[in-house]
Amino acid sequence: MSEQRIGGTTGSAQIPNRTTHITGWGHEVPAATLTNADLEKIVETSDEWITTRTGIRERRIASKGETTASMGALAAARALAVAGIKADDVDLIVVATLTPDHLMPSTAVLIKGALGSTRAAAFDLSAACSGFAYAYAVAHGFLTAGLGQRALVIGAETLSRSVDWSDRSTCVLFGDGAGAIVLEALDLEAGQGAASRPGTLSFELSADPSGAYALWIPGGVGEGADPLIKMDGAKTYVYATRTMAAVATAAIERAGLTPAQVDLVIPHQANIRIIEHVSKAINYPMEKIFVNLDKYGNTSAASIPIALSEAVAAGRLKPGDVFCTVAFGGGYTSGAFVTRWGADPAHGARAASVDPASIRVVRPEGGAKADEPPAVLQGFLDRRHR
Ligand code: ACO
Repeated sequence: MSEQRIGGTTGSAQIPNRTTHITGWGHEVPAATLTNADLEKIVETSDEWITTRTGIRERRIASKGETTASMGALAAARALAVAGIKADDVDLIVVATLTPDHLMPSTAVLIKGALGSTRAAAFDLSAACSGFAYAYAVAHGFLTAGLGQRALVIGAETLSRSVDWSDRSTCVLFGDGAGAIVLEALDLEAGQGAASRPGTLSFELSADPSGAYALWIPGGVGEGADPLIKMDGAKTYVYATRTMAAVATAAIERAGLTPAQVDLVIPHQANIRIIEHVSKAINYPMEKIFVNLDKYGNTSAASIPIALSEAVAAGRLKPGDVFCTVAFGGGYTSGAFVTRWGADPAHGARAASVDPASIRVVRPEGGAKADEPPAVLQGFLDRRHR
């Protein structure tokens, strides 16, 4: 008798003519909204400065008990409901995050538990704000290699717990939230060219160590390790504008398409000025670029899956449309992918069937530090929940 294996996944390698497609999507953001006016009471800033320099008007803040794992699990449960599948239909769970609940266990394993999955392989992936593009690529590789049929790809962040609330140059930029998709293997018919091929079409991923300490969280191991984000904003801005245009162009070309054949661009939601710059650089109209950073700020790895979920709900993607996502972030890293949308947007309504109370992340005995909002926000959160 073979040794018992708990929660494993199997697959034979290399299935030709296979791609992937998105069959489920969903997101979760905290209820508490921190406006620019609220921030004026925390640091020396103004709504006018934040709005004109970034386009951000408000962001969501996780309350006590809301964490990267809990928001990621809820977003994932909604994506499963939209896809019409059960947690045990999934072979792989990848969570892109730079704010995991813990260094160990992975957030993905906590989410697996909350979903009641008994089968999936699960791990976290660290590529900062480019994390969702990296995670999508890894899941695509896993599925097209024949290692499974379906993956949950999640981007989730609790940046409010990794921000220095006395540093006005960073704390105004970030917010909390999570987004998720179900990615499924899709076997292609012979002879389908770029103009009609369904599903995932191309990727471009890059990493540039010259920015390693221009955007970073010292953290890691070591006594008194510093958990707060540090950023050289001007250097990061220059990198962002250059790399976003370059990776989006490369991914679109690799898909065998021109920008004119792309129906929607979903960029990482960091700064409206960066997005406008990319629009000009690749000669792509702002009207065809999805923007929601005014509501959520920069949610790092969660920004693209939240935007994707909202874009579908807003009727911005219909079957046959091609979209390109493009991101940049700490590392520096950047990434883009191009996909032809195939799902029925009406399936999005199924997300409402998920009861948030039924999705519970197991916490350690005595609670977890990850559950606690920063002290400086406690008064604000208490007023919001009164
Ligand atoms: N309110 C008021 N003044 C501020 C604030 C604020 N919140 N923050 C900075 N300032 C001041 C600075 O002190 C400085 O003042 P000084 O000139 O007297 O020294 C001045 O504003 C800086 O102004 P600019 O240099 O003109 O600011 P800029 O137009 O470059 O905008 C910003 C700054 C928004 C940070 C921009 O550089 C940027 O967006 N960079 C990219 C950052 C980014 O997207 N990071 C996320 C990366 S994704 C990831 O992986 C996490």
